[in-house]
Amino acid sequence: MISRSTIDRVFETARVEEVIGEFVQLKKAGSNWKGLSPFSDERSPSFMVSPVKQIWKDFSTGKGGNAVSFIMEHEHYSYPEAIRYLAKKYNIEIDETEQTDEQKEQADERESMFLVSEFARDYFHKTLLEDNQGKAIGLSYFKERGFTDETIKKFQLGYSLNEWEAFTSEALNKGYNLKYLESTGLTIVKQDLLSSTGTKQFDRFKGRVMFPIHSMSGRVLGFGGRILTNDKKAAKYLNSPDSDIYHKSNVLYGIHYAKQSIAKEDNCYLVEGYTDVISMHQSGIHNVVSSSGTALTENQIRLINRLTKNITILFDGDAAGIRASIRGIDLILEQGMNVRVLMFPDGDDPDSFAKKVSEEELKEYLQNNSQDFINFKVSLLMEEAKNDPVKKAGLIRDIVVSISKIPDSIQREVYIQECSRIMDISESVLFNELAQLSTKAKRDVSKRSDPNEPPMDVLYPELALQKTPQLEKVNELNKCEREIIKILLLYGNNEVQFENFVAADQVDDNEVKPFRKEYFLNAVSNEIYLNLQEDEIEFTDETFRQIYYEIIHQLNQNEIVKVDSFINHSKTEIAHLVTNILMDDEKHTLSNWERKQVIVKSKESDLPKMVLDAIYNLRRVLIEEKISSLSFENYTNDEERTESIEAVMSYTSLKLRLSGMLNRVV
Ligand code: CTP
Ligand code: MN
Repeated sequence: MISRSTIDRVFETARVEEVIGEFVQLKKAGSNWKGLSPFSDERSPSFMVSPVKQIWKDFSTGKGGNAVSFIMEHEHYSYPEAIRYLAKKYNIEIDETEQTDEQKEQADERESMFLVSEFARDYFHKTLLEDNQGKAIGLSYFKERGFTDETIKKFQLGYSLNEWEAFTSEALNKGYNLKYLESTGLTIVKQDLLSSTGTKQFDRFKGRVMFPIHSMSGRVLGFGGRILTNDKKAAKYLNSPDSDIYHKSNVLYGIHYAKQSIAKEDNCYLVEGYTDVISMHQSGIHNVVSSSGTALTENQIRLINRLTKNITILFDGDAAGIRASIRGIDLILEQGMNVRVLMFPDGDDPDSFAKKVSEEELKEYLQNNSQDFINFKVSLLMEEAKNDPVKKAGLIRDIVVSISKIPDSIQREVYIQECSRIMDISESVLFNELAQLSTKAKRDVSKRSDPNEPPMDVLYPELALQKTPQLEKVNELNKCEREIIKILLLYGNNEVQFENFVAADQVDDNEVKPFRKEYFLNAVSNEIYLNLQEDEIEFTDETFRQIYYEIIHQLNQNEIVKVDSFINHSKTEIAHLVTNILMDDEKHTLSNWERKQVIVKSKESDLPKMVLDAIYNLRRVLIEEKISSLSFENYTNDEERTESIEAVMSYTSLKLRLSGMLNRVV
């Protein structure tokens, strides 16, 4: 774990405009900087950075946050990965804590394995480009396959000499430990009684072209090596064995190069192999990954799910392969993803097809030939079961199983309707089948879930970040609560002159004044606190309530509101919400008002009124809610009815008094 003090130093040091400036071209706009959103394809800038508040906001997607959350969003890093990135950028030494010696050792071992793998990547790549054998055999092979120099460089392709231990000796010479060469699988160590050491060692990937396999963040986890001879006995591809850093079932080939494009295009193409990924890239399709010849696993789907909800599976033209893959697709539906499929013409895979056609033709083909998975499955199976009622019954069940995996109930219903039409069977039969499956599925899920597994938002904090914008409620009460939080954050520490109505303590001879005005100086935060406390008002919104309690806590401790602590809050939903609130008012600076000399009226002069209005508005909405909840109730007898009419009347008069005090219609 990264120590708290390191994290604090990163937050203190990182400047949001510097961090973002590396990825987005920023131009000055008033006290802010603006630029084109890196999360959407926009023409006019709606991406804004506030150096004063140290936050950013993308008005085109609703995303926003601090320097750390930008790196998480943009690079698809986890929280610790983002902290490490920034620490490196600002030369902050990372201090690890709470690690037992055993954990430290393990972390060191993993790091050593990464270093050995990265050395191997560079060595194989250099061999491919500079060694005579590498050039004659490896490089010419890749060239023959149509890979350009640029592609070879980008994917860091390599060649492992056709010698028993060329790589291993070089690595040992360079000081790498045999232990890590063996644990990464790069070197195979065998017993050998004839040798003086009792063992012999040789290169696993002898005589193969090399495909480094990267993590999401670009570290080398392992390799795939392709044989170049037609030796029927040897496997065409050899992969690194599973190890502490490489778990085949958690890895997607190409994800590092594809992540940004997947998020931007909001779709991920899934292909079978290394060469499919590379050829598609070379043809300008970047949102593509491969599961290396096997069905997608749950963890691989989760990896994609961090970036998009849409996945398009590309099949080669052979039918047998398709039938085998179909079952695995239910697993993808189960994770709430939308699945489409796309077939290539007979005999072509994405690699060969991409080479045959122009870039435009490929893009067009992908655009026009994908179809929804469920529809695809129905048509495919219907074709087979045409005149066979028994087969057809089996197929219907099969389809309903797929539909039952979809978490969204509306989507399920739409599919049922559509299938009913295509298969010519009544909707009610399908719904019935579905209902039975759903109850069974629920039982299975509750059995399966692992209590030791941390919740999703702990594993992938960026998920929470992405979810929040949709969850923003817009009802009136929520607006009032938001306004109060906003005032607390922006102006909580300001001291201003408030006016108040107090009951008149003396009555004039002729004139009866029920109230008189009184002026007093108070901090905005304190004034709000006293008012809400007096009325025992609780925020209904969970996040607002948390923020409010933390503000009160801060006031009790230090008598000031610390906005930074919310912008950099460890709970992403709080950080996100606060960023949004703080950036609400900045949106106008996106247009060029300042330059056109339009003076935006300073809000601070109206502060006392703004504070009291916000409080009164909240009260008003609460009272209105109370009134309408009372009027809608069903009464069982007259007594209850009378009681509640009385209550409505007294609330209504309260409301009127409120308007009287404010001297305006509410
Ligand atoms: N694969 C593997 N081990 C094998 C065969 C295949 O790991 N023995 C994986 C590789 O990731 C490969 C993918 O399955 O890229 C698809 O296999 P295949 O279609 O046979 O290979 P291609 O990618 O088409 O490779 P090439 O075009 O070089 O023959
Ligand atoms: Mn191929």
